[in-house]
Amino acid sequence: MALLEIEKAGAPILKQICDPVKKIDGKLRSFLDDMAETMYKSDGIGLAAPQVGRSIRVVVIDIREGKLLEMINPEITSKEGAAVDSEGCLSVPGIFGEVERSEKVTVDYTTRYGKRRKLEADGLLARCIQHELDHLNGILFIDVAKNLRQETPEP
Ligand code: CO
Repeated sequence: MALLEIEKAGAPILKQICDPVKKIDGKLRSFLDDMAETMYKSDGIGLAAPQVGRSIRVVVIDIREGKLLEMINPEITSKEGAAVDSEGCLSVPGIFGEVERSEKVTVDYTTRYGKRRKLEADGLLARCIQHELDHLNGILFIDVAKNLRQETPEP
């Protein structure tokens, strides 16, 4: 496994629409391992492939429940409600802001073994899924957030 370098806001790859994954193989699974390792080491709860330099539709998420979610070619198939909460992003370190998201989402995605799955999520997981899927369409949370602010971590 390897730690990947995280692209920061301003990098052109973060503004691109990512390509669907066509082939799921050992190389992609090893990339998923690297993404998860990078997310955990960076203390993030989600990471999208363009944030580590690959313009493909892949995200990893773990909202600190010890359950790693890997999603290939994810698509939100239904949305319900609305909720506003604070977000940050590993590509925009130290910046936080409020984003309105759907309260509940249903997402279809492909697993690392090529199986299509459906997941219903609400709360933080629903928020995180929407944030990461935005990355696949070249959208950063700072593009849609209100009340953006800088917060320096305690020393
Ligand atoms: Co992000």
